[in-house]
Amino acid sequence: MKISGLNLILMGPPGAGKGTQSELIVSKYNIVHLSTGDMFREAYKNKTKTGLLAHEFTSKGQLVPDDVTIALVKERLLQDDCKNGYLLDGFPRTIEQAEALDEFTNSISSPISKVIALDADYNELVKRITSRRVCPVCGASYNLFTKRPLVEGVCDHCQSKLVQRDDDTEAKLHTRLEAYEKQTKPLLDYYAKKGLLVKVDGLQEIEKVFADIAGVLGE
Ligand code: AP5
Ligand code: MG
Ligand code: ZN
Repeated sequence: MKISGLNLILMGPPGAGKGTQSELIVSKYNIVHLSTGDMFREAYKNKTKTGLLAHEFTSKGQLVPDDVTIALVKERLLQDDCKNGYLLDGFPRTIEQAEALDEFTNSISSPISKVIALDADYNELVKRITSRRVCPVCGASYNLFTKRPLVEGVCDHCQSKLVQRDDDTEAKLHTRLEAYEKQTKPLLDYYAKKGLLVKVDGLQEIEKVFADIAGVLGE
């Protein structure tokens, strides 16, 4: 089914399950998945100017500067496929990004419908991130504990050899978590004040988290 104009933000620390839940949400509600992390990784793979610049930050676990990130998202939101709704996974991550997004979505009369915030405790985030494996070719994501590929170390979809993301070490995760605490967490208050925030317990099993999100979004 299709709900037009469902414009969502999915927030949460690294490993909270943003990418995992995004796949399920965009498929059920037929909206576009916009992950700034994926966009930066794709741009780096293609060695674009933005990709190379962003990698200087992503490879250290730091946030990419606001001006670069905001420009990338604005350009993407203007594309036709976003007209029937989109899910922003990992954007905004700073107050400056949130304010820019507000201004922009108001200017194109396509305001944010809801902000879903996932959370999980520190030990679980470390476990999930260090056990994640990804396909460098098609982008599919796996987990050594909860989402194993059919053949160990091999992508189910394209048979490529699975790898770890270069920022998925415990040391870089530490920096990413720090960035989340300092720069992104204040957004919870920002969206709560606007009456848009819904918190979902990301510690539950994948299907249960999704059931809670679908409960919030409705049929
Ligand atoms: P990004 O790619 O967004 O990384 P992140 O925010 O650190 O989040 P992750 O993708 O690591 O985690 P996730 O929440 O998607 O979890 P997933 O579902 O994969 O950003 C990367 C970098 O790009 C940033 O560090 C920054 O440098 C830059 N960047 C991006 N956006 C930016 C912005 N707006 N501004 C500035 N810079 C920006 O799950 C993780 C693992 O757990 C998987 O293996 C999965 O299978 C498993 N799992 C998921 N859910 C469950 C569950 N419920 N139970 C058990 N296992 C689970
Ligand atoms: Mg992700
Ligand atoms: Zn693959």
